[in-house]
Amino acid sequence: MNAAARFKKDDILAEFPEIDSRYTLIGDEAIGEISGFGAVWRAQDNWIDSTVAIKFSEHKLSDEVRLCREIDGETARVFDFYKGVNGWEAYTMEHLEKPWSTLSSFIEKRRYKKSDIQFYFECFEILRAILHGLSSMHGKPYQRGSRVIHADIKPGNIFLLNKRKKRPHTVFTMPAYVDMVKLIDLGVSTYRGGKPIGYTPAYRPPQMNSVGSGFDLYAVAITFAELITKQRPMHENLKNPAAIRRVLATRSSGSFFMDELAVEIIKRCKNAATQSTHTAEKLITYLDSKLFDREHLGLMCLRELVKSGVGSGTKDELAEAIYPTIAKYWGWERSSAKRKAMTNDFVDTLVEEGFVRKSTAPRRFVVANGAS
Ligand SMILES: Nc1ncnc2c1ncn2[C@@H]1O[C@H](COP(=O)(O)OP(=O)(O)O)[C@@H](O)[C@H]1O
Ligand SMILES: [Mg+2]
Repeated sequence: MNAAARFKKDDILAEFPEIDSRYTLIGDEAIGEISGFGAVWRAQDNWIDSTVAIKFSEHKLSDEVRLCREIDGETARVFDFYKGVNGWEAYTMEHLEKPWSTLSSFIEKRRYKKSDIQFYFECFEILRAILHGLSSMHGKPYQRGSRVIHADIKPGNIFLLNKRKKRPHTVFTMPAYVDMVKLIDLGVSTYRGGKPIGYTPAYRPPQMNSVGSGFDLYAVAITFAELITKQRPMHENLKNPAAIRRVLATRSSGSFFMDELAVEIIKRCKNAATQSTHTAEKLITYLDSKLFDREHLGLMCLRELVKSGVGSGTKDELAEAIYPTIAKYWGWERSSAKRKAMTNDFVDTLVEEGFVRKSTAPRRFVVANGAS
């Protein structure tokens, strides 16, 4: 256990007289998960009536605070920095409370039902938000210097705004992705080209000895697989698409299209460790083209097919399953032969979009992996 974790309230207040004069520590112990470096407490700011989080460490925190200042809005807002009488350091920051939670506790509590395509849509929304935070941290191609690599991406260092919203005419329910995720704990973060120190081995790309954006993206591959399956995969379990497929098979989306997209994105994130062409920004562009910028009616029909258990079927069977979704979307109150024919044609559109494929069996169409 690190020294900060053993630090009692009185020890903290003795080390930091300035903190003692301004804040009241809440509770008798640190909040959140204790890891290698510091301890985070909740505290009442008595000068400005509000609650903050305070991170203490016997190690230097000034680098962490400087990096937090340099990046935009992707991390918790930092307020003040303090030095203790025996060289400890501390800083106060915005306290992230419900509906914020760490991604690790979100993963722990989350439920998956068999063939849960909505679960997958949500995973992808979270993934996009994480990539968005990273793309902004990693900097734009034209920006010189200050390209920050987080270097300790993992579920315990990601905060998620866990507040779903039902929106009409889309399958996406999470808050707008720009303000849905905060990447915290820049304790081992560094500029690109720096040395990896103090990272978490289970998320760290093997054989990468100087950090670049691929260092973080590799950790995203592990995190995303964990978000889907609840189990953190071993490095070798992501070594090729077949292995990734086996990892994800424990929790299928019920749609071959979504299952394969998950395999592909994990592969690309993982390969970012060795191929500098895969940046967070490019991965977002890829995800948008494959998922977020697609016609929502197509995705809604795909969801309906999975929900109604149509793993495969004839065109008429698929059309029957998606009819209510299409009718609701277009506001059809009565059905007619023409509307039924349009719905049948939409099955062809789903095939063109890649959401459904033709079976090897004649006149049949496939939705789920393994169906025919
Ligand atoms: N701003 C915050 N608001 C609420 N909880 C926080 C905040 N910052 C950190 N925590 C909690 O404290 C834990 C440890 O914080 P972190 O900065 O990751 O420290 P360490 O360097 O020890 O890993 C986090 O996993 C989280 O549960
Ligand atoms: Mg941490």
